[in-house]
Amino acid sequence: MSNVTALEAQHVLQTYKRQPVVFVRGEGSRLFDENGRAYLDFISGIGVCVLGHAHPGLAAVIAEQSKTLIHTSNLYYHPLQGQLAAKLAKMSGLQRAFFCNSGTEAVEACLKFARRYWYSKGIKNRTQYVALEHGFSGRSMGALSVTANANYRAPFEPLIPGVTFIAPDDIKGLEAAVTERTAAVIAEPIQGEGGVRPLSPEFAAAIARVTKATGTLLIADEIQCGLGRTGRPFHFQSFGWTPDLITVGKAIGSGIPIGAALVAEYVAKEIFAGDHGTTYGGNLLSTRAALYVLDELDRLAPQIKAMGALFEQKLAALQSQHQVISGVKGAGLMQGLHLSVDALPVIEASLKAGLLVNRTAEKVVRMLPPLTVTAAEIEEATRILDGALRSVSATEARATEGAEGFDGSVEVKA
Ligand SMILES: Cc1ncc(COP(=O)(O)O)c(C=O)c1O
Repeated sequence: MSNVTALEAQHVLQTYKRQPVVFVRGEGSRLFDENGRAYLDFISGIGVCVLGHAHPGLAAVIAEQSKTLIHTSNLYYHPLQGQLAAKLAKMSGLQRAFFCNSGTEAVEACLKFARRYWYSKGIKNRTQYVALEHGFSGRSMGALSVTANANYRAPFEPLIPGVTFIAPDDIKGLEAAVTERTAAVIAEPIQGEGGVRPLSPEFAAAIARVTKATGTLLIADEIQCGLGRTGRPFHFQSFGWTPDLITVGKAIGSGIPIGAALVAEYVAKEIFAGDHGTTYGGNLLSTRAALYVLDELDRLAPQIKAMGALFEQKLAALQSQHQVISGVKGAGLMQGLHLSVDALPVIEASLKAGLLVNRTAEKVVRMLPPLTVTAAEIEEATRILDGALRSVSATEARATEGAEGFDGSVEVKA
């Protein structure tokens, strides 16, 4: 551990606050640290490793493809991009795909394609975007411009101008913000980094109505909530949206970096050779992996639904046991425990007890288990969380008792 951290401290740019653990191996829903200790992984590389770790089928496909052909660039054809695009078209209803290497790049592509659409139509002042408070779409200059968190944005301003953020329950604000200058509205059907917050059906319906009424393009950011995690190919399908563009990332490669911008045919017609590009995007290795992952997710769909329902049930039971849980939000295998206190001690206590979950939006314990998770693993995770919440509540109670003044008043913590 000390060698690893010392070397990183010396040479790796310090942009991440890491948990104090070094992982060297994985198997299914477990990760193993350098001392051989097993951890139940309920964050799965932030919603990425949907088939679990060291999946034999995925490993075989990657090995075989790497011995055949990994990369040729987008100067030439290869057989797999079309197959993957066709599969995604069937899942999403959007005819075309542009392949890239991450979620951020998928967002970046969609923001460009939305502008290009209006530019091609000769409407050159339709350049603005509407995004949501608590939304997260990445940290490149474009994606950051439609990401709400002021702490992420401030050091890098000025960002792309003309972005309006709306609270995700402010229907009047949305109606006022979307104008004939708006190129696109971008929204996550379930906000992930911003605290696992599903859009309400009313607000989701308002987005559909307002974009349709004004002809504004709708970009569904499905990078975290999409591809089966909530029991549907895409979570927007639960709202009945018909987005014009969809971002895909994370789960699609189960760890092999790949992202995609999915584009409706009428938008695609306004985009031309040279408008966008990437050297790696959609190479043979990543598209082969993605084809395998999507087939597996199809096959697992009934099990994923059943495990999602079980997880929801177990977390509801956990909430009834713990006052400190103010809400359980999410859908299926994307869940957040909203606490009335800082979530970090719960994350740390869980790690100590062998469960990986993460904190987001300060007071939220986020859980994104592999989609291969079993009922026994869900039982085990909720049992560990129960213990972690008990220990944190006990510490809180002691701190509150200790903070009582002579007159019985409780000190307010800074
Ligand atoms: C909804 C959403 N959009 C975009 C991104 C950015 O994706 P990536 O980190 O793969 O570039 C994320 C990452 O967490 C995300 O959750």
